[in-house]
Amino acid sequence: MKKTFSSKVTKKEAELFLSKFLTIKSWLKTKRIPESEVMDNQEEAVAYTATVTKDYLNKIDEGFVKQAINLGIQHGRILDIGCGPGQILLKLAVRKLDVQLTGIDLSWAMIQEALEKISIASLNSRISLQVSDAKCLPFANKSFDLVVCNSVLHHSSNPIRLLNEISRVMKPTGALLIRDLKRPTKFSFPFHAWWFGRHYSGLMKQLYLDSLRASYTLGELKDLLNHSSLSGCNVFQLGWSHIGIEKNQRLKKSLKRKL
Ligand SMILES: C[S@@+](CC[C@H](N)C(=O)[O-])C[C@H]1O[C@@H](n2cnc3c(N)ncnc32)[C@H](O)[C@@H]1O
Repeated sequence: MKKTFSSKVTKKEAELFLSKFLTIKSWLKTKRIPESEVMDNQEEAVAYTATVTKDYLNKIDEGFVKQAINLGIQHGRILDIGCGPGQILLKLAVRKLDVQLTGIDLSWAMIQEALEKISIASLNSRISLQVSDAKCLPFANKSFDLVVCNSVLHHSSNPIRLLNEISRVMKPTGALLIRDLKRPTKFSFPFHAWWFGRHYSGLMKQLYLDSLRASYTLGELKDLLNHSSLSGCNVFQLGWSHIGIEKNQRLKKSLKRKL
């Protein structure tokens, strides 16, 4: 007689199936290999700065800025954590927003690259920069209306502390956009690295591969968020290559009525 799955599967069979599924899932998972936190090497900073101006990364960064602005910011203070050579700050500064921008990075070499670019664009009065650690931000509680953080989480030696610091310096009504690479499975890693890394070469290719191995999966990102003090945020996946955390700006009721 034919067995029907729904009526005849025993608890033991279901448990066996689940444990096999979990074994396969964990077997497919690539081991996360952390990379060094700060990109303080001059050669790395120069290679990275040269690459962000290339079409491919430029488009990705434009998308990031668009997503950040869509979270609702019109005026106030914006903080870019791990700002690197400052290309995201520059893109935000030329948008029609009434905002003051601050960028921090642990790398003096990166801050120097950013200072040079901001100076060439004559935007020194709109953007301030400093060398500091995202795990111990030199800002008062509830200071920022928008916090952005691109491609930094996988570098951090203590990502939960980083998320908690973001939560502390953000206004309760503030918006947040964190984005990072997504670590592929063992099975898809070679194809993923080849396809998404096809625009890079030399040192930048090596930096990209190291970052890919150090990045998180969607599940791991959800766990980090759940263990942090951030609230009201969503975890998202962007295509096959990126994941992130976002939170919309919450307008005060009186202001909402006026709009
Ligand atoms: C891959 S780069 C990303 C730069 C930039 N956000 C972008 O979108 O191109 C990572 C940056 O994060 C910085 N970083 C890593 N850990 C940091 C920390 N704890 N505090 C501040 N900056 C950090 C590194 O020095 C590096 O400049």
